[in-house]
Amino acid sequence: MNSPFVRTSRRRFLQTALVASALPAWYLEQLRAEEKSTASKSANSKPGIALIGCGGRGQIIAKQASEFGNIVALCDVDSRQSEAAAQKLSGMEQYKDFRKVLERKDVDIILNGTPDHWHTLVNLAALHAGKDIYSEKPLTLTIDEGKMLVKHVKQTKRILQTGSQQKSDARFRLACELVRNGRIGKVLTITAAIGEGPKEGPFTAEAVPSELDWDFWQGPAPKADYTAARCHKTFRWFWEYSGGRLTDWGAHHNDIAQWALGAERSGPITVEGVQLEEMIPDGFTTPSKFRVEYKYANDVLMICTSEGENGVTFIGSEGSIFVSRSQLIASRPEILTEPLPAGATKLYYSDNHMGNFFACVQSRRQPICDAEIGHRSATVCHLGNISMRLGRKLVWNPLKEEFIGDSEANAMCSRPQRRPWDSTHMI
Ligand SMILES: NC(=O)c1ccc[n+]([C@@H]2O[C@H](COP(=O)([O-])OP(=O)(O)OC[C@H]3O[C@@H](n4cnc5c(N)ncnc54)[C@H](O)[C@@H]3O)[C@@H](O)[C@H]2O)c1
Repeated sequence: MNSPFVRTSRRRFLQTALVASALPAWYLEQLRAEEKSTASKSANSKPGIALIGCGGRGQIIAKQASEFGNIVALCDVDSRQSEAAAQKLSGMEQYKDFRKVLERKDVDIILNGTPDHWHTLVNLAALHAGKDIYSEKPLTLTIDEGKMLVKHVKQTKRILQTGSQQKSDARFRLACELVRNGRIGKVLTITAAIGEGPKEGPFTAEAVPSELDWDFWQGPAPKADYTAARCHKTFRWFWEYSGGRLTDWGAHHNDIAQWALGAERSGPITVEGVQLEEMIPDGFTTPSKFRVEYKYANDVLMICTSEGENGVTFIGSEGSIFVSRSQLIASRPEILTEPLPAGATKLYYSDNHMGNFFACVQSRRQPICDAEIGHRSATVCHLGNISMRLGRKLVWNPLKEEFIGDSEANAMCSRPQRRPWDSTHMI
């Protein structure tokens, strides 16, 4: 598991690195040209938008979406949350049950800001109600949910953008374009450093706030006593509702790793994950510290780890690149400063993740992070969690999307869903 090569290479790389505070001039020029050629005509009428899940992220994406359409409905199973959103985004009706929102003919677009265990159920119901969707990441709670969702997006011909917004960040795209075009030689190792999850608890049962429908909030998840820690925002550190840090941040950085590899619609062939610390009994249930190693068919080693500076490091035979939300670093200046040749592979261009979604709603072109890409990126994270939970290395077939010769692992590609909230019920 431990790879001394990766550690020493990274140290050496950072000692000689060029830190780019701004994007190189040649790339800015390329972006300006791309912006011109992809600029969409403004829509004649503004679509009606409903936000389902009005927490922290929901409110942010609703604000972004309000530039492109009219928010007409807010929905949350906790009226304090929809009320808080209504204070910020004026003039729309509030709902508790998302199925009522989906009945509205004037709602064209669903923004899905629910916790992970609700993403797929809301998305499936929205697809079959004829809505286009901007759904938060991680797109799914399980691998089987993703397979099902992809199938139904195709069947219904709806547009679905996954909220992995790093795809629309020029720094990440440049790093991926350089890697794809061989600028660092043969890719050897990619490290996605995603930081530690919190380790807290024990938590004890509390009274359910009167404004919250706790049973509805839990939906398909197993019934549990309410504690505030299980609910808003910190739900992501409980296995019942999410996959912890690995899905929370892995959905961003593993997505970038697969983009650079050209494996966005595929995946690794082996996975070996190790939880590095026991969690507190009756506390958060997803690992705070971990290390997961993935092998791809082209022999690339991808490591997703809670250690190190948050960002993605690409190590190749002829140089290295580190990219994060604030930095782009290369081991030799020319890696960044030399323009890519004419005819180089260019990746999908988007400088505004929400804008790209609305442009695609209009044009019916696939968005930059469509359902399959969102599902495959989430799958990388789920594979790591399954390996950690089973405590062994697993062999994955990315074509068939199943583990090879491991019925126990395959059984973990789905989870039991508490009635009446099973996926088949939603379609
Ligand atoms: N793209 C990003 O950078 C980014 C950042 C933060 C969060 N997220 C994602 O956004 C999602 C929400 O995260 P958050 O931090 O906003 O959580 P949150 O707990 O603050 O908000 C979730 C809201 O959904 C509501 N909800 C739960 N079940 C519902 C249902 N069936 N119908 C309607 N509302 C329901 C909850 O009551 C809550 O108000 C998560 O999947 C998270 O991973 C993405």
